Amino acid sequence: MGSVPVEKLKLFFADNFERILVLTIILGAASINYWVPYKFGFLNFFYLPVLMAGYYTSKRFTVLTAILCILVVIFFTLAFPNFILDEMKTPFAIIGLLSWSCFLLLTSAVIGYLYEEKEARIKDLKAAYIGILEILSKYLESYDQYTQGHSVRVAHLSEEIAREMGLPHIQVENIKAAALLHDIGKTEISMDIIHKATRLSNTERDEVNTHSERGARILTLVDSVLKDAIPLVIAHHKYYFTQDSKDKKDIDTIPLGAAVIAVADAYDAIITDRPYRAGKQPWKAFEEIEQASGKQFHPDTVKALKRVLMFNKKYTEETP
Ligand SMILES: [Fe+2]
Repeated sequence: MGSVPVEKLKLFFADNFERILVLTIILGAASINYWVPYKFGFLNFFYLPVLMAGYYTSKRFTVLTAILCILVVIFFTLAFPNFILDEMKTPFAIIGLLSWSCFLLLTSAVIGYLYEEKEARIKDLKAAYIGILEILSKYLESYDQYTQGHSVRVAHLSEEIAREMGLPHIQVENIKAAALLHDIGKTEISMDIIHKATRLSNTERDEVNTHSERGARILTLVDSVLKDAIPLVIAHHKYYFTQDSKDKKDIDTIPLGAAVIAVADAYDAIITDRPYRAGKQPWKAFEEIEQASGKQFHPDTVKALKRVLMFNKKYTEETP
């Protein structure tokens, strides 16, 4: 529970990173000007915002941060002659400032380059990781003609719904990974029940319903890589609002990513043939989901699904 303020702080930092950086640079220069006796040595402080920009942003923004640092220092030097010039004889001060500026610019270019290299490698790794999850889910579903390709379709639709809702990129990736593995717990359930050609009895239904917890338990084996997907797998069948939901706090316990997967999962299940019934047409399936909006499904996810279906004809023209 204590992690919530930390998470909010991280989110605030990420949302306002550029503003915080500019403020740090200006306040840093002002602090050096007013409180530091030997100012020239403290110019190394400006490596800090440049390194932060290199770690969190792009090469272009890192170089721009270095240029801003240099411009702020030049401004303070011209506006307050005792800022640097008093400490050394003027020609040495100018040579010192010039070499400091060059090293700062060089550092920003190198850090920016390393950042882009790191990002490219992470992108390749993530593509490989999602590819492996897709292969795994296809393999797991290959035994059942009715669920073949279900997880991959749910993952792609969940991704589009999450993007439509404007969720951050990292959250969209977690949702996609969780959607690919949302039914992995079914591998621990009897094949006779999974393959049953008629509707399930209550006991069998209860057995199938354990697959969310079973799936989460399997995913804890790879912990750190999939740790953000685990809460989504656990909650992917939870209802948005039930008679037990006494107030809004209960609703908030269901991760938004799980609500996204729930609506994509239900949509794909309704349009796909089952042993005991034929799949419905896309808009008929959506009507069914819309009727459960605010009850089984989060209203925002239903609205986003509607927009995805309206603007992506592949979902309404083709049936799996
Ligand atoms: Fe499921």
